[in-house]
Amino acid sequence: MSLTFIGAGNMAGALIGGLIASGRPVAELRAVDPSETARARVAGQHGIAVAADASPFAPDDVVVLAVKPQIMQPVARGLAPLLQGNLVISVAAGILMQDLGRWLGGHTRLVRVMPNTPSLIGEGVSALTAGPGAGEADLALAESLLGTVGPVLRVDDEAALDAVTAVSGSGPAYVFRWMEAMIAAATDMGLSEAQARLLVLQTFKGASALAMASDETPATLRENVTSKGGTTAAALEAMNAGDIGGLIGRAMLAARDRSVELGRELGKDG
Ligand SMILES: NC(=O)c1ccc[n+]([C@@H]2O[C@H](COP(=O)([O-])OP(=O)(O)OC[C@H]3O[C@@H](n4cnc5c(N)ncnc54)[C@H](OP(=O)(O)O)[C@@H]3O)[C@@H](O)[C@H]2O)c1
Repeated sequence: MSLTFIGAGNMAGALIGGLIASGRPVAELRAVDPSETARARVAGQHGIAVAADASPFAPDDVVVLAVKPQIMQPVARGLAPLLQGNLVISVAAGILMQDLGRWLGGHTRLVRVMPNTPSLIGEGVSALTAGPGAGEADLALAESLLGTVGPVLRVDDEAALDAVTAVSGSGPAYVFRWMEAMIAAATDMGLSEAQARLLVLQTFKGASALAMASDETPATLRENVTSKGGTTAAALEAMNAGDIGGLIGRAMLAARDRSVELGRELGKDG
């Protein structure tokens, strides 16, 4: 079995790095990308074979689609005649399997994955779901592939990937926005930019690690550090007065709705 990545950009590079680090032989991996820069980078960093154009696949080749969603339609149409019933794994955000399958010439042996940006440093989290023609072994293979850059969750229904997009797909940006606001408030209080950055980033890392190491819920962990009349209570009261829970809920619903809408827009035959 070999793995062919169509698109050798950031996400493909992260997965290739993860696979090699987990012991997958370099000779089993290759990448196709028309960009000479992308090919040189992935070949230089990982030593895998690269090509500018895809050639017919062997039946046991696994094809990983890692191009931008906006160009998936022409890329998939170009790959259709090269497929021989191969397992095709798509990491593209927003592309529905029914559309991808149609562009691939009626292909149904598909697994769709929603990864996130921290995958680039091996700290991602992904969810995946199978198309009608993909079996348990296909799902397990996709799971082991994505598992090299973080935990993987299975969902039964493709629509759940819209929720996953709103949680972990777009989630890193929510955290960055929160960091941005805390750094700004810290500098307003007289700390330097560098001091603020260190304090804020390490606080996120530490709180996250503590929550993961603990059996307690985030709510209990919060209560544990909130003394009545204390500093944390003062901050949380201000947050609640601004309806922080409602705001986050509305923001995530907006992301989920946009994911549904993008799926419709990107799925139109052009
Ligand atoms: N980055 C993430 O953390 C992340 C998270 C979730 C999902 N994803 C998904 O992963 C996919 C790839 O994202 P990315 O961030 O890795 O994008 P990227 O860095 O832009 O990589 C895409 C690569 O595909 C190349 N390409 C363009 N046309 C091609 C063709 N016809 N055949 C083969 N390759 C072609 C691009 O070359 P040019 O630059 O010359 O166009 C580029 O090198 C996207 O669909 C995205 O939704 C990424």
